[in-house]
Amino acid sequence: MLKLPFLFSNDLVVGIDIGSHAVKVCELERHGHGYGIVALGGAVLPDGAVRDGALVNAKMVADVVLALLSNLKIKKKKVGISISGYSVIVKKISLATMDEKRLESYILAEAEQYIPFDIDDVYMDFQDMKTSSAGHGHTEVVLVAAKKEVVDGFTAMLEGIGLVPAIVDIDGFALENAHEVIGRDVNDVVFVNIGAAKISVSIISGGISVAARDIPVGSRQLTERIQDLLDVEFDEAEAIKLGAQRVQEREDDIAAIYSSVCGQWVVEIKKMIDLYRVNHPGQPLRRLSLSGGGSKVVGLDDFLRMETGLEVDIFNPLAEMDFNAKKIDPDYVQAIGREMAIASGIAIRSSAI
Ligand SMILES: Nc1ncnc2c1ncn2[C@@H]1O[C@H](COP(=O)(O)OP(=O)(O)OP(=O)(O)O)[C@@H](O)[C@H]1O
Ligand SMILES: [Mg+2]
Repeated sequence: MLKLPFLFSNDLVVGIDIGSHAVKVCELERHGHGYGIVALGGAVLPDGAVRDGALVNAKMVADVVLALLSNLKIKKKKVGISISGYSVIVKKISLATMDEKRLESYILAEAEQYIPFDIDDVYMDFQDMKTSSAGHGHTEVVLVAAKKEVVDGFTAMLEGIGLVPAIVDIDGFALENAHEVIGRDVNDVVFVNIGAAKISVSIISGGISVAARDIPVGSRQLTERIQDLLDVEFDEAEAIKLGAQRVQEREDDIAAIYSSVCGQWVVEIKKMIDLYRVNHPGQPLRRLSLSGGGSKVVGLDDFLRMETGLEVDIFNPLAEMDFNAKKIDPDYVQAIGREMAIASGIAIRSSAI
């Protein structure tokens, strides 16, 4: 059984978040009870190099990762990545309490019934959440299975450029961990990370993760719709979306695209929250924490606040971290914070190898 996300030791890895749009890299170090930023950066990937959470063109991705690490002068070789999408299953199961060894052999023997993949094709890991109270013989166990083919694709790509992939995390877990970095109370919170191709939603309630799902929509949809509307190349549509280029005469049509696409995002996010509310009537959510590049759409936070009735915070894991302002521009730290949610969550992981 390969240890996936629940490993522990002292040496922090460099967090590398390989999204479908961009690679984000974050190196942190422990500062007292908190963390300091050592290095930080992002680089856009060639279109199509990563799709559905898997490498499509490993060479292109390797080149971008290598150039980014070299620009950032990162010397450390131990890195952590995180995976997401169709190749990962996270499942919560309720089992009779048993010790770690018995639990491991039980899960190895019974995993087939919980996982929709062939067991030989996946890496598995589990964690006993130890939710059993005295006199109650059941505990919640979180089971993670990740397709070997996809994980091996990432690790081989990293090894090919001289790195040591020491941690393979899951986007949703990294997002949850990142919130613990800033020491804020993360209970009864819904985390929403809006990327280019997916929105990761995860809900922490009563101290544990009760729901985590990737919704296959994201900011790339906006670019594609603008591309169709104006009959321009993808890169030009992206520039228009980011406000780097203006198309005055079509502004109303572009605004209509925003309200339709972002409206769909909000509907999907709200569905998960509503389902949670039905199943946990006694445990209300307190706030929604928003991150990811796609969350930069102006007014989206207010829209979510209105539709969900929750307080909405923009999550910046770096906001309170120390760093050397001679090496890292404070404006950049502020601007990139929300895109760094997952990379920073990986960067606080340590590796035993
Ligand atoms: N101001 C903005 N308005 C709308 N979208 C934006 C803005 N700024 C960045 N984005 C979009 O955010 C996306 C990049 O965000 P992020 O780096 O979180 O995605 P990713 O991790 O690469 O994608 P995914 O996780 O979905 O594979 C791109 O689609 C980019 O166009
Ligand atoms: Mg992402």
